[in-house]
Amino acid sequence: MTKEITREILTVAMPKGRIFDEAVALLRRANYPLPPEFEKSRKLIIDSPDAGMRFILAKPMDVPTYVEHGVADVGVAGKDVLLEEKRDVYEVLDLKISPCYMAVAALPTYNPKADIASKIATKYPNLASTYFREQGEQVEIIKLNGSIELAPIVGLADRIVDIVSTGRTLKENGLIELETMMPITSRFVVNPVSYRMKSLQIDEMVERISAVVEGGEGS
Ligand code: PRP
Repeated sequence: MTKEITREILTVAMPKGRIFDEAVALLRRANYPLPPEFEKSRKLIIDSPDAGMRFILAKPMDVPTYVEHGVADVGVAGKDVLLEEKRDVYEVLDLKISPCYMAVAALPTYNPKADIASKIATKYPNLASTYFREQGEQVEIIKLNGSIELAPIVGLADRIVDIVSTGRTLKENGLIELETMMPITSRFVVNPVSYRMKSLQIDEMVERISAVVEGGEGS
């Protein structure tokens, strides 16, 4: 007896905030019919029956957690978040959206020689400690949840590790970049079990998005 292949609903975890609009635009260019109120709604779960999808709107840092636990089959997450969270998800596609980079920055008065026990403020404690350990530098990490650039100005930290996009936040707060750490873009991530159980939909989604990312149809 041949097993009938049924199309199940695919649950997609989307990051609220700066990546969201670009991710939605990418899905629309891949011809997924998302409801027009998608961007404006305050709802955290949005069903798109026509696309065969349910979207859950999460904090960017939490997207890999939803995908790892399988409550979302797939998701869109920044490389920064993936490096920080180290969740058990497959990173299958570089979406090449929201490009930025991770950098170390400080006030121009920062003096490395006078720096005995350097304090680093960051939203990315794991990523930052790995980076400085690899550099053979001992530092104290101070975890913050945002407005990282404030920390050196008020004397909470000597340096910061944060993402830089336009560079405006650093500039307007009088900070200078000391080191570029790594480029960052958003990635398409998949739950390993979903990849087996819903391979039909997931493969198709990866193919359609990939065609747009690579400058194919609809882009
Ligand atoms: C991010 C990042 C920097 C800023 C960089 O913060 O943490 O502060 O954007 O962007 P720019 O180089 O274009 O100025 P976000 O706006 O996400 O808010 P947050 O400070 O609350 O994390």
